[in-house]
Amino acid sequence: MVFDSKIRPITWENGVSKMLDQTIIPYEYKYVNITTGQDMFDAIRNMIVRGAPAIGIAGAQGIVLYAQEGRGIYNNINEFKTWLLEKADYMATSRPTAVNLMWACEEQKKIINEFHYDIDELIQKLTAKAIEIELDDIQRCIKIGEYGAEVVPKGATILTHCNAGALATGGYGTALGVVRSAYAKDNTIQVFADETRPRQQGARLTTFELAMDGIPVTLITDGMCSYFMNKGMIDMVVVGADRIAANGDTANKIGTYTVAIAAKYHNIPFYIAAPLSTIDTSIKTGKEIPIEERSHEEVTHINGKRICAEGINIINPGFDVTPHELITGIITEKGILRPDYNQSIADAFSNKACV
Ligand code: MRU
Repeated sequence: MVFDSKIRPITWENGVSKMLDQTIIPYEYKYVNITTGQDMFDAIRNMIVRGAPAIGIAGAQGIVLYAQEGRGIYNNINEFKTWLLEKADYMATSRPTAVNLMWACEEQKKIINEFHYDIDELIQKLTAKAIEIELDDIQRCIKIGEYGAEVVPKGATILTHCNAGALATGGYGTALGVVRSAYAKDNTIQVFADETRPRQQGARLTTFELAMDGIPVTLITDGMCSYFMNKGMIDMVVVGADRIAANGDTANKIGTYTVAIAAKYHNIPFYIAAPLSTIDTSIKTGKEIPIEERSHEEVTHINGKRICAEGINIINPGFDVTPHELITGIITEKGILRPDYNQSIADAFSNKACV
């Protein structure tokens, strides 16, 4: 059953990217127009748009924006293509961990490499692909939601970390897609949302979009999850992913690994919800996943105010890797993948049915 969610963080309208500014939610709900490739690169890097599938869509649109700019610079199709391929590679570096960004840029590069005749026609094809990636992502999330809802117990309390919701995708969400589909069948379920330091995607974004959709949500701080698990108040964990290795090791927002360890200790199912575009079969294990190191100010300051002593050491990795042994299942648009992940992931990519 599909829950009617209207949140669309990034769409394409009349040659421009319309993007919800996620840095100002929940204070303001405002769309900004992104009109150049460099502005798109900056919007991804500065997290105006964030979440693995959403930055994939943004990357694809950013390459269209560059292509539109290049039309005024080049007449020769081959020079145009060489320049645009460089811009596509540059766009793919705007953030390092979420593989959907690289995947979407590669999809656009395939089109640039295949097409040989006319700049305007090439731009049309790139635009169509960017729109297709966005709309397909929503359909994939709905499928993920439907498969995931099957493993949500009646009246369950679902713990989630960060924001893997409509705001992080084309719409509907991966982890929160599971929540939405489960809620459409059983309105007695509820969500516990980790605040998710340092950027507070759980507090600012997950609670915002669930409240907007009328789904019951309780905000907790990151250190509280074991306490509530121990009290028997959490029935399952569902989180998103930024990159999944061939063996199932999964990078997601920093703090996810801690939640997975706590879930294992308390015998609570721990699920990842992600489209196949988040799986990077070119890497064998999570050790190969590049982890983004973000600005120290995200840790030292809250709302522009310093919260710690001057001159101390800071480390701020944006993601951690949850080892595959801690993961009960990976909910994809093709079904729920189960251990052995090397096998089930390979099967999912070779069009075999999932468990
Ligand atoms: O740094 P962010 O906000 O882009 O990190 C987002 C996450 O870690 C999400 O959980 C992940 O991208 C999955 S989004 C469906």
